[in-house]
Amino acid sequence: MLPVVSIGSLKTSGTSTLALTLASVAAAAEIPVILIDAARDGDLSAWAKLAGSPKRICVERTRDEGEIERLVRGARRRGDFAVIDAGDMGSTIQAAARQADRALIPVRFSPLSARYAVETDNMLTEDAGYGRRGRDWCFVATAVTTIPSRIARNVETIIETSHARRLPIGLVQRAAYEAPFLYGGTIFTLPDEIAPGLDRARAEAASLAYEIGILGHHRREERPAVQDEALSVAA
Ligand SMILES: Nc1ncnc2c1ncn2[C@@H]1O[C@H](COP(=O)(O)OP(=O)(O)OP(=O)(O)O)[C@@H](O)[C@H]1O
Ligand SMILES: [Mg+2]
Repeated sequence: MLPVVSIGSLKTSGTSTLALTLASVAAAAEIPVILIDAARDGDLSAWAKLAGSPKRICVERTRDEGEIERLVRGARRRGDFAVIDAGDMGSTIQAAARQADRALIPVRFSPLSARYAVETDNMLTEDAGYGRRGRDWCFVATAVTTIPSRIARNVETIIETSHARRLPIGLVQRAAYEAPFLYGGTIFTLPDEIAPGLDRARAEAASLAYEIGILGHHRREERPAVQDEALSVAA
């Protein structure tokens, strides 16, 4: 079964970028996607209006808990991949995580982002008795800069104070991840010349999707496991 994924942190930390990137990997692997935009600002709904958004990604804008539940139930029934951009509001993050199998807490490598990520983990821990049985959550590093620094090491220390797992892969800071918000489409549908590093972004995004359990759980025999060349690179 495809996991329902919710994404949110009490501080702006690349939530919408991560949600769109995971939706894009699933769509590139021919998995229908329902992308629920429950964030305050509706960035993903705005993205959906741009040219070139793939037919396989259906964006629904709602911040209502009952409506999120209904959309997730429909996606589970059809075997679609559901991903929720829960944004940065505690009540929405909590409500979305209750509907999900796996909640992701994006962490930018800044001390403020890390502290709010830990606070988000604490909030989800307090709420653990509600929602789907067996649901879990973990930290995902976003907009990672590859230059090592003392600040980055301190951020690691802050994150390690939590019991929640940190995924071994995250998203490096790349213009490629921002390109879809400017031009429409996804990192898999945009042409290589539009942004540097699209190929690396595709491979990285696919690896992350495997780690989260989005790829490798195909519903139908006839569905090709991997469509895009970049996905096979990452596999
Ligand atoms: N991996 C990345 N590489 C490059 N830029 C990134 C990456 N992740 C996020 N960003 C940039 O950081 C900014 C915030 O990202 P995003 O909008 O995804 O975060 P958010 O948590 O949804 O924020 P908001 O609360 O404003 O909705 C954006 O300008 C986005 O393009
Ligand atoms: Mg957002």
